[in-house]
Amino acid sequence: MRNPVLTTIDLVTEAAQPDDIAEHSPPTLMAQHLRTARQHIALAIESMRLLATLSDDAEWNAQTDHLQQISSFVEDRCALFDLGQRSFLLPDQFQRFSTLLRQRRESAHLSRIELCKRAGLSERTIKNIENALVSPSRDTVVRLLEVAELGLSWTDVLGEPTKQPAESATDSNYNCYIPPGYEPLRMVQQLVRILNGPGGHIEQTYTYLEHRSAIAYMALGHDPAYVARYRAIYPFAELARRIAEECGQTPLKVIALGPGDGNLEVRFVQQLLGEITRPDIELVLFDISQPLLNAAYQHALDTFGEQSPVHTLMMQGNFHDLAMYPQVTYAPAKSRRRRIYTMMGNTLANLDNEPRFFQHCMSHCLPGDFLVLDIRRRQAPLDSGEEAIKKADPAFHKPFPKPLAEWLSTPIRMHCPNLMVCELSYVLQTECPIPGSYSLDAVATVKLNNQAVRRFSMSRAKSYDDALLVQSLARFGWECVLSLPIGPQERAPVAMLLVKRE
Ligand SMILES: C[S@@+](CC[C@H](N)C(=O)[O-])C[C@H]1O[C@@H](n2cnc3c(N)ncnc32)[C@H](O)[C@@H]1O
Repeated sequence: MRNPVLTTIDLVTEAAQPDDIAEHSPPTLMAQHLRTARQHIALAIESMRLLATLSDDAEWNAQTDHLQQISSFVEDRCALFDLGQRSFLLPDQFQRFSTLLRQRRESAHLSRIELCKRAGLSERTIKNIENALVSPSRDTVVRLLEVAELGLSWTDVLGEPTKQPAESATDSNYNCYIPPGYEPLRMVQQLVRILNGPGGHIEQTYTYLEHRSAIAYMALGHDPAYVARYRAIYPFAELARRIAEECGQTPLKVIALGPGDGNLEVRFVQQLLGEITRPDIELVLFDISQPLLNAAYQHALDTFGEQSPVHTLMMQGNFHDLAMYPQVTYAPAKSRRRRIYTMMGNTLANLDNEPRFFQHCMSHCLPGDFLVLDIRRRQAPLDSGEEAIKKADPAFHKPFPKPLAEWLSTPIRMHCPNLMVCELSYVLQTECPIPGSYSLDAVATVKLNNQAVRRFSMSRAKSYDDALLVQSLARFGWECVLSLPIGPQERAPVAMLLVKRE
């Protein structure tokens, strides 16, 4: 039998890998040690603070602060452990997935070790899944889906979405759906932890979550310069005409992914109404941010009224998990509703990894589904190096826009208690997943009152080469139907694309 002390040390080492906490450690043992560590550290901090008040030695305070850092680390691991305990897959999905993983690995003639290398996972993780011992985290599933030889899809993992009874698909009595698994409090806790860590990368989803961030984002959207240059001049009339040509009088389901305050999305639907003689439109507003979603819904109701051919629904959720929501993904066999997804206001360009989004999150889309996107075009020729891009792109020659800085610094101002200064600037990234694109990363340099300096990458916006983006979309199964400049000149810096699932 192993020495229990050594087991403890093993577990602590593994705690460096969040996935491993969920997948490798016997849960009860781990939970027990985490609880003990938490209690002991809290007691030690209390005693040390008392000692500090009784002694002139300043070192007591300094060491207590150190202990406080250890306490934050343990809290952090407790939260991750807790998260890991919530299994991503339902029990029957897990059983099916574990059998399927073994079958697919064996048919691909991959040993476990080879699969580990390809997926970047430990052998124990694969073994635990195949033996149906430990249910995988979402991240592990994503890594396995990316191993081409296994040929796994989200449908293999999650199964066919449950068929909805016919009447519930058109039930107009509800106006909001919040899927299980959507946990904004937990996300905010994660955000706070990152912002109080050594610095790093904030996934874009987090910057809209809270009410104050949402207010700052809405202020950015209403900034007169931004409205005049972009929002006011979207070519919705031409776009709606083309969709009406393609769809005729078919009822439509417009699924607005990340509608923000809903301004652009509502204008788009208004134009569709103008193009269709007997309109019947279901508008699904899908957003992570409760306050923004609420603003969008209110705006849609105010615009369309209650007795309108547009029935508006809110869905609060994470579009990275879109494939798991039958309310969006399930299309009844006899439904004639044509689906139009929208990602407007740079929503695609803000994603860390667009190919992953198309391959996994949009894998449920059916031939004939549409997607409306807007893009910023790259401002330098394709063969330009970093210096040439910086020279050509006007973003590098202007002060960082104030409303943007206000929005992106809101989470930092809210959650970094010792903040002195927060400055934002653009950093160029040329290693981007879509060929021909580059990214302007908005990086916050944060100075704290103890002299520490941290850097957080708060948001990124890609600029694309039209032709190469269209080629990439074709690889993901989306054919470009229409490309329109946003603005009077053909080579306007921003453009709109209508693409159709092949
Ligand atoms: C760039 S904004 C665009 C908003 C709006 N379409 C506009 O044009 O102003 C991105 C929107 O997507 C939402 N969002 C970001 N990440 C998300 C996620 N993972 N799941 C769902 N919504 C998300 C944000 O809350 C925000 O409303």
